Amino acid sequence: MTTTIKACIFDLDGVIVDTAVYHYKAWKRLANELGFDFTEHQNEQLKGVSRTRSLELILGWGGVTKTAEEQVELATRKNNWYVEMINQMTPAEILPGAKEFLEACRNTGLKTALGSASKNSMTILNKVGIANLFDAIVDGNHVTTPKPDPEVFLKGAEALGVAPAECVVFEDAIAGVQAAKNGGMKAVGIGSPDVLTEADLVVSGLDKVTIETIKEL
Ligand code: BG6
Ligand code: MG
Repeated sequence: MTTTIKACIFDLDGVIVDTAVYHYKAWKRLANELGFDFTEHQNEQLKGVSRTRSLELILGWGGVTKTAEEQVELATRKNNWYVEMINQMTPAEILPGAKEFLEACRNTGLKTALGSASKNSMTILNKVGIANLFDAIVDGNHVTTPKPDPEVFLKGAEALGVAPAECVVFEDAIAGVQAAKNGGMKAVGIGSPDVLTEADLVVSGLDKVTIETIKEL
């Protein structure tokens, strides 16, 4: 039985904009100040992962132990550097096809929502000038349980007034694809089919997907 798709829910980092590079630079600076380094390959494991959990992983890689209080200070220090970088973002940093696909959704009557782990999503959307293309925005400020828990996407569906089965989620992180599937939604992976094995379809970017394709999922 096919269900009618009524809404598209988008992850932000790695789907609409490539902020992973800024997260990496800021975390790397923090690790360097603590006296160690980590690789771009290790950084892949931080995609879609919350700020607090990212710090825990990084401290583990460096073999460094910090108190809860110190961890709050370190996460804040990293975030301040990250915010400095995203404050410089321009519309040129929207990933290919993202704006066009959001506009196409709205032109064909599909609702749109953001479903991001980031607490900085509004800053980014305003800087790149596309906040007005979302009917609902759910981000790290609104959820208590991180992906792969489906909370962020279920809250998005609820805000749009559609059933989970009527939603397609666009995600670049394994945990994000799992969150969509755990929520009973369709998932389009943005990246490599070898990595995003649980997605219903994998494309290299939003420039490679059409409204017709997602309606047939
Ligand atoms: C996700 C990113 O979108 O947001 C993660 O993929 C990041 O790398 C997480 O840690 C939280 O972001 P922020 O902006 O709240 O630190
Ligand atoms: Mg992402």
